[in-house]
Amino acid sequence: MLADRVESSMNEQLGMELQSAYVYLAMAGYSESESLPGFASWLRVQAREEVAHGMKFFDFICDRGGRVRLGSLGEPPADYKGPLAVFEEALEHERAVSEAIGRLYSIVVEEKDYASQAWLDWFATEQVEEEKSVGQIVDSLRRIGDRGDALFLLDKDLAARAGA
Ligand SMILES: [Fe+2]
Ligand SMILES: [Fe+2]
Repeated sequence: MLADRVESSMNEQLGMELQSAYVYLAMAGYSESESLPGFASWLRVQAREEVAHGMKFFDFICDRGGRVRLGSLGEPPADYKGPLAVFEEALEHERAVSEAIGRLYSIVVEEKDYASQAWLDWFATEQVEEEKSVGQIVDSLRRIGDRGDALFLLDKDLAARAGA
């Protein structure tokens, strides 16, 4: 059984993961329109991962005898100033997700729900990885500035990583 408070917070996080997928998908669409196929495929992979994160919450809520409740998704922006703006926003988004996971963690600790706590450890660790990988791309883009040749190479690099 899940405490009501845990159930509603888990559902909220399920929504946030799906919202993340929606945001990354919008970013992928923008990157396609800018002829940055490597960025686009990296972002598509990221979107799929976020759906998988959402489904982990979906399954966990069901496994614990809770009830899944889906809210509405917000409309992500269709346009960005450039790839740096995309990844700066992605980093901000991942930081917000890390904070949300942290809040959820505090709730399950307060409710003495140790099964949820152990299960959430994976997400806490995953967020470290997420912030790191997005942060590295932000740093690369800052270093690149407006050098088109370097951006071209980073796009190739991201395409390779997305395919790996
Ligand atoms: Fe996620
Ligand atoms: Fe994420």
